Amino acid sequence: MEKTFVMIKPDVTLRKTRGIIGDIINRIEKTGLKIKALKMKKLTKEEAEEFYSPHKGKHFYETLIEFVTSGPVIGMIVEGEDAIKKIREICGATDPKKASEGTIRHDYGINITCNSIHASTSEEDFQRESSIFFSQDEVYDYEYVDEKEFEKYL
Ligand code: CMP
Repeated sequence: MEKTFVMIKPDVTLRKTRGIIGDIINRIEKTGLKIKALKMKKLTKEEAEEFYSPHKGKHFYETLIEFVTSGPVIGMIVEGEDAIKKIREICGATDPKKASEGTIRHDYGINITCNSIHASTSEEDFQRESSIFFSQDEVYDYEYVDEKEFEKYL
C-alpha cells in the first residue's frame, strides 16, 4: 500500500466562500483511498522551508514560502494502491490555467502559487512532508467495518 501526503493551502482555508475544504476532502475520499491522518496547522517559516526544500533557489521560492505561511493549511496522509498517482490526478496540473476540467486546481486554484492543494510526487517527498506534520501516534491504522458493527452502541 502506497502512502501520499496532501496539503490544502491557505487560498482555500482563508477564502470567504465556504464549502471548499469539505469538497476537497470529499474528492479525496471518493478516490477510495483511506485518510490515515488529518490536521490543521500553521507552518512556521522554518517548517515551510524544510517542506519546500527541493525548490530552494528557484525564482518562485520566496513567494511560495510567504504564501504557504500566510494562513492555516490542512495536512493529510492518504493510503492505498497507487495513492501518489491517484491524488495527483484529482489535483490537476500545477498551474490552474493548465489543469484539466474537473480537477481541484482547475475548479478552485487562483494562480500557480495559490493553487489550492499540494500532493507528494514521490515516496521521498512523502517522508519529508508527512514528518513535518505528523508524529507516529497521529497516524491511524484502522479497518473499515460493516454497518451492523455499530448496532451494539445503543
Ligand atoms: P506544489 O504542488 O505545492 O509544489 C511546489 C509549488 O511551487 C507548486 O505547487 C506551486 O504552487 C509552486 N510553483 C511551481 N512552479 C512554479 C512557478 N513556475 N512559478 C511559481 N510557483 C511555482
